Amino acid sequence: MHNARMSHAQRAHSPDNSCFVQAYAKINLVLDVLGRRADGYHAVATVMQTVDLHDTICFTATDDDQVHMLCTTPTLSNDENLAARAAQLLRQRLGLTQGVRIELHKRIPVAAGLGGGSSNAAATLLALQQWWQLPLSPSDLLDMAASLGSDVPFFLTGGLALCEGRGEQVTTLAPNWPTAMRWLVLLKPAISISTAAAFRCLPASDYTDGTHSQAVCSAFNAGTMPRAEDLHNSLERCVLEQYPEVAQAREDLLRAGASLVRLSGSGPTLFAPFPELARATQVQQHLQAQGYEVYLSRATHPHMGRVSCF
Ligand code: C5P
Repeated sequence: MHNARMSHAQRAHSPDNSCFVQAYAKINLVLDVLGRRADGYHAVATVMQTVDLHDTICFTATDDDQVHMLCTTPTLSNDENLAARAAQLLRQRLGLTQGVRIELHKRIPVAAGLGGGSSNAAATLLALQQWWQLPLSPSDLLDMAASLGSDVPFFLTGGLALCEGRGEQVTTLAPNWPTAMRWLVLLKPAISISTAAAFRCLPASDYTDGTHSQAVCSAFNAGTMPRAEDLHNSLERCVLEQYPEVAQAREDLLRAGASLVRLSGSGPTLFAPFPELARATQVQQHLQAQGYEVYLSRATHPHMGRVSCF
């Protein structure tokens, strides 16, 4: 067993020079879209929480100077994968020549509003920083993360956070997760929605002023359950209107026994919180029997980028 601090030379001569990292999904408890910015992005105020649904990434040193990307989802086995782009960015920024094979065991649904790609990118930055012992400050990492995507900086720390700007300005919140949301049923309708498409269809009449996010932050700081009307997602109305599969899934989740259902990010994944495991499991099984892709999950505060090397 080798640790993350050994030199590159040691690793290069080791027969089992690999390291693993887990990359967690997120949900948006609230997403206020405040307006459109001059750069084409939208100003947002959103509270995100990492959940225990995760991908696993394995990095292996190679003798060439390439980044090789392999994913259990074949359409993601290419250079455009955000994990591969994160590795390339590190190599370019620091003039590195190390080759690496990245194997990605995908469990987080793709283009689902759960931040899987962004999480993979952040986990890659953190893991390679440790494994290659790179001299990067937290602000270097944040800059690189933000250049890869608006949600990537959040995944450098994870947990519960308020994210502002285009999403890249992250303020960590105290982990006061209410017991009423102890279990989360995540339902992924059988369609994909690109973030860009969801933002593109949003009319200005659906913009909000950020008070929902403020109220949710205040509730968490006080250790209380936010009001249901503050668990608002500005993109939800438009996504439900444009994608009937999501509206149907929401109906089915409510009919199965959920009392609160919300869209995560740009969707199509919906989440429903439950205080008790028995009820959450019942709802999950009911929806699975209807043919839905459903995950039983919970909020988690993982140590992001913790690598295990072999
Ligand atoms: O930052 P990211 O690459 O994940 O964003 C994907 C697309 O989503 C952007 O190109 C933009 O169209 C849209 N977006 C937005 N406002 C944000 C975040 C994303 O309009 N705050």
